[in-house]
Amino acid sequence: LVLVVDFGAQYAQLIARRVREARVYSEIVPHTMPIAEMVARGPKAIILSGGPSSVYAEGAPAIDPAIFEAGTPLFGMCYGFQLMAQGLGGTVSATGAREYGRTRVHVGLPGTLLAEMPAEHNVWMSHGDSVTAAPDGFEVLASTEVTPVAAFENVERGYAGVQWHPEVLHSEHGQKVLEHFLWDIAGCRQTWTIGNIAEEQIARIAAQIGPDGRAICGLSGGVDSAVAAAIVQKAIGDRLTCVYVDHGLMRKGETEQIERDFVAATGAKLVIVDAEKQFLDALAGTSEPEAKRKIIGREFIRAFEGAELKVLQDAPEGAGVGFLVQGTLYPDIVESGHGAGTSTIKSHHNVGGLPEDLEFELVEPLRELFKDEVRAVGAQLGLPNVIVQRQPFPGPGLGIRIIGEVTRERLDLLREADAIAREEMTLAGLDGDIWQMPVVLLADVRSVGVQGDGRTYGHPVVLRPVTSEDAMTADWARLPYEVLEKISTRITNEVRDINRVTVDITSKPPGTIEWE
Ligand code: XMP
Repeated sequence: LVLVVDFGAQYAQLIARRVREARVYSEIVPHTMPIAEMVARGPKAIILSGGPSSVYAEGAPAIDPAIFEAGTPLFGMCYGFQLMAQGLGGTVSATGAREYGRTRVHVGLPGTLLAEMPAEHNVWMSHGDSVTAAPDGFEVLASTEVTPVAAFENVERGYAGVQWHPEVLHSEHGQKVLEHFLWDIAGCRQTWTIGNIAEEQIARIAAQIGPDGRAICGLSGGVDSAVAAAIVQKAIGDRLTCVYVDHGLMRKGETEQIERDFVAATGAKLVIVDAEKQFLDALAGTSEPEAKRKIIGREFIRAFEGAELKVLQDAPEGAGVGFLVQGTLYPDIVESGHGAGTSTIKSHHNVGGLPEDLEFELVEPLRELFKDEVRAVGAQLGLPNVIVQRQPFPGPGLGIRIIGEVTRERLDLLREADAIAREEMTLAGLDGDIWQMPVVLLADVRSVGVQGDGRTYGHPVVLRPVTSEDAMTADWARLPYEVLEKISTRITNEVRDINRVTVDITSKPPGTIEWE
């Protein structure tokens, strides 16, 4: 275990991921955690992350000097580097010179940390103050034009640090720096491999649920719930029941895919709730986006709870469904305040004859994992690519891709158009190049066209191909004209009632990815 101390900047998660890429398990802890508590967890090393640009800045978080007494190897980056320098008796000066972004670093003495790295290379910096003198016992390894001490190490104590951000992609050899520290200076073993992750999670979940417990898992068709279910299935076998609510808003073939591929890969018990009529009845007459989302959310809970009851009734006498599986990821846990332990949620049932409130204990097999690890574990457990490499798809499904009222006929139109677009993207080998490509039906718009000898008066669809890292921001994807042409020709020829295909070329912001 390596602890990454979070000083409130955006870097801690990225550092934790990079440590795991070096096959060493890492967790993020807040800088407010007492040192004794960190040490009690027995970390092999502690990493001090970036943070505010100056240790002298007003309100800049400090570090308890007790950390230097603990005997645990330490690595400081950027702000963490300055904290180390300051705390160990070096000098941090407000030189007035700043370095932001790409910076050339000169390696004077490679030492262990920078071994086998070019004497000159580019790294990513973001700092105001500089370390002007290293603490006693430290070797200075690198400098830049304005920073005399840009990297140092004290191998005997297991200490090292760099002024730059080795975790970001723009820092050349960044991962190597981290690996030299973890493997060669701190002596961490490379045990965090995909096979081990899967095994550990399965063992952990088996212990949590126990030999008699039963669990239920809602499948959405997405990666996270599928991998979570696969792990729990391995842990408790057919004491897990998966529930998939078919709200009729899925894309063409998706329900069948879950039914076929997921079950074939995992052998899990799957209950499919056919709730199409329930959802369409509830959505009838509603066009306002937020209202649609609320209705879909509400009906989803109803359908899922109905299924829970049924599973409960079918379970052997006295064997209640005690656990609810959720696909919560590590970033969700970190963002909600480093929560530890399990929480209990309540599920309210309003159906006669059964207890008012059933308590479920949450099972979160992915709560220690990042998204890329989830995909790798899914593949390891035998889930097919169509599931583990699936592009994001919103919970409310096609319901928020029909602009206007949602009806069965409109859904069928959109499903056909969307299936063509997806097929052509896959054929062109473009799936890996884009984040996702919603196809949106402008159901209340009609335009005049001509087909054969006749006038048409049909609906337009909008293709919304985007590139993105995390969906927070996005750019429109520059798809090749030939692919756009093929999609346009096929949709207008093959889907009756759609006579125009347009492409959305708005970035996010100002547009969102979805239209509603
Ligand atoms: P927007 O439209 O906000 O979408 O730019 C950002 C990302 O989130 C997806 N999305 C959703 N996912 N439930 C989900 O699970 C939702 O209600 C939802 N709305 C949007 C969207 O597909 C994109 O990837």
